[in-house]
Amino acid sequence: MAATAVAALALTGCGRSDDTGSTSGDTSTGSSTGATGGFPADSLIGVSLPQKTSENWVLAENLFKDDLAAAGFKADVQFANGGVGEQQNQIQSMVTKGAKVIVVGAIDGSQLGTQVKAAKDAGATVIAYDRLLLNTDAVDYYVAYDNFQVGVLQGNALLEGMKAKKPNGPYNIELFAGSPDDANAKVFFDGAMSVLQPKIDDGTLKVVSGQTQFTQAVTQGWKAENAQKRMDTLLSASYASATLDGVLSPNDTLARAIMTSVKAAAKPLPVVTGQDSEVESVKSIMAGEQYSTINKDTRNLVKETIAMVQALQKGEKPTINDDKSYNNGVKVVPANLLKPLIVTKANAKEAYANDPTLSKLTQ
Ligand code: BGC
Repeated sequence: MAATAVAALALTGCGRSDDTGSTSGDTSTGSSTGATGGFPADSLIGVSLPQKTSENWVLAENLFKDDLAAAGFKADVQFANGGVGEQQNQIQSMVTKGAKVIVVGAIDGSQLGTQVKAAKDAGATVIAYDRLLLNTDAVDYYVAYDNFQVGVLQGNALLEGMKAKKPNGPYNIELFAGSPDDANAKVFFDGAMSVLQPKIDDGTLKVVSGQTQFTQAVTQGWKAENAQKRMDTLLSASYASATLDGVLSPNDTLARAIMTSVKAAAKPLPVVTGQDSEVESVKSIMAGEQYSTINKDTRNLVKETIAMVQALQKGEKPTINDDKSYNNGVKVVPANLLKPLIVTKANAKEAYANDPTLSKLTQ
């Protein structure tokens, strides 16, 4: 019965949205149908992405544009290269334009409370994409690769990579984290430290700089130059005579910056982890330089997000597989978490077999 009612409403909505400028009609459809009532099949969907700090965001932009359009929606996909203020304005403008779902990859997860509340007040559904939105109850769902697991995989890869080069420790390492305004950065770091801290405690690992806290390891804005500068400083302060065996890097862009610094200092390359399967890093892995990356196929993340949008459009509940891990400070956000995959030279060919760009690099 509910399904029939929903289908009828969707049809009504469809007809109505063919009229141009029927914003008020759309709004009343939204409020009368409520959270489970669906919305017209050709509605506007807003996607607000952060700065282009890694390739995955650029891939997401194109996939959202193409695949939302292919699914029959109108898509408004925006980057906020100018920073938090620009992202706030973009979301506000998506609300004003009547977007039924707003997908947000936040620059700063704690700075969008006012805008996502406005979205909810206007009857839209808010989905946090890749990065969680913090300290607000105006976020309905979260879709991301399991961030804690990303960190665990990075921690394990660092240990394995160093062991393969030198069977017994102790090993000298340094730790890098992402940008502190991105809610993921701490989760990646905590995941990695769940593996590394016990080894630091038992003396297998030595962080020669002594900088083991997240606040000491962060890389503002996920910027390569910030990681490179910090690595320069660490090398000159702590590795004049000591050998650096490994570096925990939270993503590929920073991994390459760290390796640039090490090369400039004319030191042997340590084992360096990464994340995102960026083209230059996959090349580096195949060349035996960067040790590992993580495959978080953006195509799958966008596909899952659009599946959520389609469920909402039909008035159905989107797929959720985790309702306990992501407490944003105000509520536990129901999440659809995808499984990340560790990639080293050993499994790259298999890992990227169905990726037309990356598979070419592993031949
Ligand atoms: C994403 C990573 C990415 C980083 C920098 C994070 O929120 O999860 O995949 O490397 O942002 O763009």
